[in-house]
Amino acid sequence: MAIERTLSIIKPDATRRNITGKINARFEEAGLKIIAQRRIRLSRTQAEQFYEVHSERPFFNDLCDFMTSGPVVVQVLEGESAIAHNRQIMGNTNPANADAGTIRKDFGESIEANSVHGSDSPENARREVYFFFCDCDLVG
Ligand code: CMP
Repeated sequence: MAIERTLSIIKPDATRRNITGKINARFEEAGLKIIAQRRIRLSRTQAEQFYEVHSERPFFNDLCDFMTSGPVVVQVLEGESAIAHNRQIMGNTNPANADAGTIRKDFGESIEANSVHGSDSPENARREVYFFFCDCDLVG
């Protein structure tokens, strides 16, 4: 086990419903620490670059539309095995398939409006954290 950092995004469906605090309580209660945080409106270019890995997928355009439709909260979570732990707390990408008690089960509206994003590997966590933040922003 190692202390890791992972990128978390609270998506526009959740900022619209004013539930960012409820979502972050889940991370904090599970032992993850928010060591950087910013509320922003993603530009189209930022959304397309961030989700570049999905650029050939049929849902890419709708995903970028959705992620630019309102404010998001980008943040860095730190803790033991933070990458996998965050994904466990979030639950399955599709809220319909997510386990009880996960964020996506409790707050997600659809596979697209699924309230949160989390990095899926150490390589992507590094890329995604530094997509939004620099070392001086990370205050552990
Ligand atoms: P996220 O973890 O942000 O990574 C890519 C996002 O694409 C994913 O969560 C979903 O919200 C969104 N998405 C929309 N449609 C699909 C789909 N059919 N399969 C996977 N992800 C999808």
